[in-house]
Amino acid sequence: MTEDVVDALGADLRAAGYTVDGVAELLGPDAHAALGRGVWWPALRACDAAGGALATLVRLLLLGADESPQRAAEAFPTAGLAALTACGVLEDTGETVRAILDIRPYSDFLVVSDQDAALRGGPLHRDHVLGIGGASLSLARAVVRTPVRRALDLGTGCGVQALHLSGHCDHIVATDTNERALALAAATARLNGMSWDLRHGSLFEPVAGERFDLIVSNPPFVVGAGATDYIYRDSGVAGDGLCRSIIEQVADHLNPGGTAHIMANWIVRGDDWGARVRDWLAGTGLHAWVVQRELADPVSYVALWLADAGEPTERVAQRGGAWLDWFAEQGITGIGMGLISLRVPAAGERPEQTCEEILDEPVTGPEVDAFFARRAYLRHTTDEALLAARLSTAPVLLEEQSLPGEHGWQQIGAAVRRPGGPAAVIGVDEVLRALLAGCRGEVPLGALIDLLAAHHGVDTGALAEAALPEIRAAIGRGILYQAE
Ligand SMILES: C[S@@+](CC[C@H](N)C(=O)[O-])C[C@H]1O[C@@H](n2cnc3c(N)ncnc32)[C@H](O)[C@@H]1O
Repeated sequence: MTEDVVDALGADLRAAGYTVDGVAELLGPDAHAALGRGVWWPALRACDAAGGALATLVRLLLLGADESPQRAAEAFPTAGLAALTACGVLEDTGETVRAILDIRPYSDFLVVSDQDAALRGGPLHRDHVLGIGGASLSLARAVVRTPVRRALDLGTGCGVQALHLSGHCDHIVATDTNERALALAAATARLNGMSWDLRHGSLFEPVAGERFDLIVSNPPFVVGAGATDYIYRDSGVAGDGLCRSIIEQVADHLNPGGTAHIMANWIVRGDDWGARVRDWLAGTGLHAWVVQRELADPVSYVALWLADAGEPTERVAQRGGAWLDWFAEQGITGIGMGLISLRVPAAGERPEQTCEEILDEPVTGPEVDAFFARRAYLRHTTDEALLAARLSTAPVLLEEQSLPGEHGWQQIGAAVRRPGGPAAVIGVDEVLRALLAGCRGEVPLGALIDLLAAHHGVDTGALAEAALPEIRAAIGRGILYQAE
């Protein structure tokens, strides 16, 4: 797509009000919600009822429907049908016009990608450029958005991560092995008035010798025998080798204090899912927070990815069988899916690497940043300093579990949870409950422990020794904090 055509297309989309709010208003809440669930026909019906340029744009670009050449021409008065057809945005048979690309409002942006299998109504091409998917959104949500100078989006695809980076990074390098992805990312950037340094090549090859303050990647992480069917998901590397390579190389491209967020899948054999990722991380010298969001069994995993490409049933069954055979040969019992966040340690610091499964709460950028800040606080704060600190308890809930017994309710456990925080829960005993209630940023922790010891008639030193690991755990979960 030439820059002139992209600019003209942008002018037409803006003139028609082709925005998130504009589309939501056109469709109405029910059809809009149905479309969000993948049910498109109520949206088509709403477009037919509304008519006009915006409805035509939604039919063509969001719903993949056919339009008459006349209505399509009316919706693109600036770009014109001929130019959009010539550069592969639309297809014009003379009787009907349909879109080849998916161009959709997303947040305050417009994003250009290929149409997914459901809209295309057939198998995807090898160089298919993926639109915004669940993994794209999970990654975008998890990125620390502190303003920085240089950022890298490795495997940019349609450019969705680079769009978000543009809000807080001065210079963005976005790479891909798929030339078509780079072309569509360039269109996405231009449509949104942005400019990225787009480079072709695999993994870190296009940025050899360069360093960044922030690196994000939603790479083709699918675990298999090394397929190369679809560039957006099949790396051609067997197993989880591609993710391993990224993790092993990323430290060479981070500036001091830099952060990286990598979406990844990893092979699981047996019970300890973290063993494999710990092995990847061992030589990196980076702090890490690895969050497994899901552990899929082989059948569910293969079925998920085979459903993605819109292939005929027989081919799906044949490929699925071969894929499962390979998993069995490799002794693979599950596939872990999650997010690896990494940070360069301060000078002289030993890297600290934490792997945990968090299935419920999403991981957000502020939580990742707070996680690394809390770990740093705990590393640098001695027990003496902790006892002198005036700690505060975050907004938390006390959850008690009780069973009915002979003498009424018998409490069997209690926990304190920070709502909205991933894995932000700790079990509490009577002492910790009292300490959490007393931590209001006013009295040093040591003084609170003295009061409690006196109240229970126990030795202060023994109480402190027992309580400090729990206090540290509470700080690690963001349940307790030291206000500046
Ligand atoms: C799952 S898509 C992610 C696209 C986008 N960044 C997002 O978050 O939705 C993976 C992207 O990585 C690209 N890719 C595949 N192999 C690659 C490699 N070896 N090096 C860099 N990018 C690669 C694909 O072409 C594709 O655009």
